[in-house]
Amino acid sequence: MQQTSRITKVHRTHIGTGDGALVQLGRFLVANRMNRNKIFILTDANTHHLCLPVLLEQLPVLNHAAVLEIPAGEAVKSLQTAETLWLELLSKGADRDTLLINLGGGVVSDLGGFVASGFKRGIRYINLPTTLIGQADAAIGGKTGVNLGSLKNQVGSFYLPVAVFLYPRFLETLPFEHLRSGFAEVVKSALIGDAVIWHRIEKQGGGRILEMPLNSAFWRETLEKTVSQKLKIVRDDFTERKQRKKLNFGHTVGHALETFLNGAGGEGLLHGDAVAIGMVAEGYLSHKKCGLPMEEFRKMDAFLRATHHADIFKPHDIPQLIEQMYHDKKNAGGTIRFSLIRMPGVAVVDVVCTEAEIAEALQFVSNG
Ligand SMILES: NC(=O)c1ccc[n+]([C@@H]2O[C@H](COP(=O)([O-])OP(=O)(O)OC[C@H]3O[C@@H](n4cnc5c(N)ncnc54)[C@H](O)[C@@H]3O)[C@@H](O)[C@H]2O)c1
Repeated sequence: MQQTSRITKVHRTHIGTGDGALVQLGRFLVANRMNRNKIFILTDANTHHLCLPVLLEQLPVLNHAAVLEIPAGEAVKSLQTAETLWLELLSKGADRDTLLINLGGGVVSDLGGFVASGFKRGIRYINLPTTLIGQADAAIGGKTGVNLGSLKNQVGSFYLPVAVFLYPRFLETLPFEHLRSGFAEVVKSALIGDAVIWHRIEKQGGGRILEMPLNSAFWRETLEKTVSQKLKIVRDDFTERKQRKKLNFGHTVGHALETFLNGAGGEGLLHGDAVAIGMVAEGYLSHKKCGLPMEEFRKMDAFLRATHHADIFKPHDIPQLIEQMYHDKKNAGGTIRFSLIRMPGVAVVDVVCTEAEIAEALQFVSNG
């Protein structure tokens, strides 16, 4: 089979995509004179078992790398795991020339990037995302971090990987619920920046898209657009002073739902499912505060509810959910700030909403 690949450079990060992405990784390691004895690969229990063999088959040179494994799931995205990994790196002789390769989903790339940013004041790392969330979003852009107690992503850094390689075949073993969860970030990307893609997605329907093979032209084109949009946003605003905040559409409510329903590290509600329901609530706020036409909001609402369960909280949970939102990193001056949309494809950042407005939006979600 002919191996296709594309390589671009954003900031200081090389991005390789396509069936030839792992070949590109091999070339990158040689071109950058990466010492094969100083390479560590971070996996979780699932990617160790499912993705590492694929990587090693294509790049046998990595058989020399030391493999670090963490349990799978959001609960390990913590300072404790970071400390365990730092100690393991130290005991296995890692130094400032070490390269860390993160082979996994958003948890592995967020945590591994954070570990790389702190170890010996910063070592190089590469992301090899193996989930849809990872390939469409989390692995790109150098936002690293861990959860603190039950609160999401409260400690972290902006620290770019030297390279990211998006190898589509890794996604072949991804369970359906994680595909659905990742799809929410793809929908978000369309809603904040690409009306054409949103209308295409909306016309197809979520159920049909999730049944399409991941190597179909539809998925390939949609993912390409999603990735290039994220790259552009990151290029323009790396440290999230303004435009990068757009990417948080659905996340203020989404993170509150994750914290509230999962507590300290549970896994009941997946990140993308929380963001999807977050987008319903924040779509409602977009209509009320930013003039998103009701007809457009109705389409979004119907689309998201058809793919994700909205009945995940009760009206009496609303005060606690709002309480969680005060911890969101976008806030300032004791207010809760949202990234909303004015139209599909047009985002607005730093929109302050009152508790009453947020409660009304959450009420709308729970009433269905
Ligand atoms: N840094 C960012 O910009 C950013 C953006 C979006 C999301 N995130 C973070 O990403 C995380 C969610 O990402 P996620 O859904 O990828 O989580 P994840 O890393 O926990 O992966 C989800 C599950 O899929 C398994 N898995 C991974 N690859 C697989 C494969 N190829 N085959 C079978 N199973 C596989 C994992 O073991 C895990 O059980 C959250 O912590 C979120 O906060 C970060």
